[in-house]
Amino acid sequence: MPKDTSYAAKRPDASGFIHYSEDENAVWRDLMQAQLPALRAHMARPYLSGLQALELPQNRVPQCAEVSRVLMDLTGWRVEPVPALIPFDRFYAMLAERTFPAASFIRRREHFDYIEEPDIFHELLGHTPLLVHPEFAAFSEAIGKAGLKAARNDYARLIRLYWFTIEFGLMREDGGLKGLGSGLASSVAELENALSERPQRRPFDVLEILRSSYRIDIPQPLYYVIADLDELFEAADRDLLADVATARALGDLPPLYPPKTARTTAA
Ligand SMILES: [Fe+2]
Repeated sequence: MPKDTSYAAKRPDASGFIHYSEDENAVWRDLMQAQLPALRAHMARPYLSGLQALELPQNRVPQCAEVSRVLMDLTGWRVEPVPALIPFDRFYAMLAERTFPAASFIRRREHFDYIEEPDIFHELLGHTPLLVHPEFAAFSEAIGKAGLKAARNDYARLIRLYWFTIEFGLMREDGGLKGLGSGLASSVAELENALSERPQRRPFDVLEILRSSYRIDIPQPLYYVIADLDELFEAADRDLLADVATARALGDLPPLYPPKTARTTAA
């Protein structure tokens, strides 16, 4: 996550409505058109069924409030617009309250294919279809609750659990591999990389994930594969703070690349 951004948060008006310009709505429309064929071909069924349940508009940026209405009925979650960069403690506190923080701006055309920071396209198209499912809802809430109690110097370790599942998780389906995480749903390039022969893939394992560092500024060299959504339910029931302590004591697994940047805020 970059520390500087050229994007300003879009703030809701008094009635909670966020105004997007014609150009911004056109960017959403074009992003959807570019992305939907890849999603249908390569994303896992839970993602696709979540997307179907949300019925996101294709021609304009959806409002967080309208997405919240669907999620609230299904899993009790809501989406709240926030600036692009929020600190870990706020991020965890929001998850613990079943509130998904969504960066409200949408990328400019110069960043059509790739943007490092999360924008509303990533937040709504990538994340909210997963929050339709009780497994993701419980798992996200459990990470938030663990984060509320975690020591500050464990924040970056705990967020690995979020990164390797909700952001970049893969799923085994019908003997093949599909994309599951939000970072794959909102980027054709990331999805292609994840399913290619290049990266290493390991079965979902909470302790291994907590011992796996990552970089946000390169194609991911390592992915974790969920075999069944029940694995997320089971993970949500674990004592994640004890897992973080164990992972810290065991130390990190050897990274598959030279570490370069530290993640200071959550996406
Ligand atoms: Fe994200």
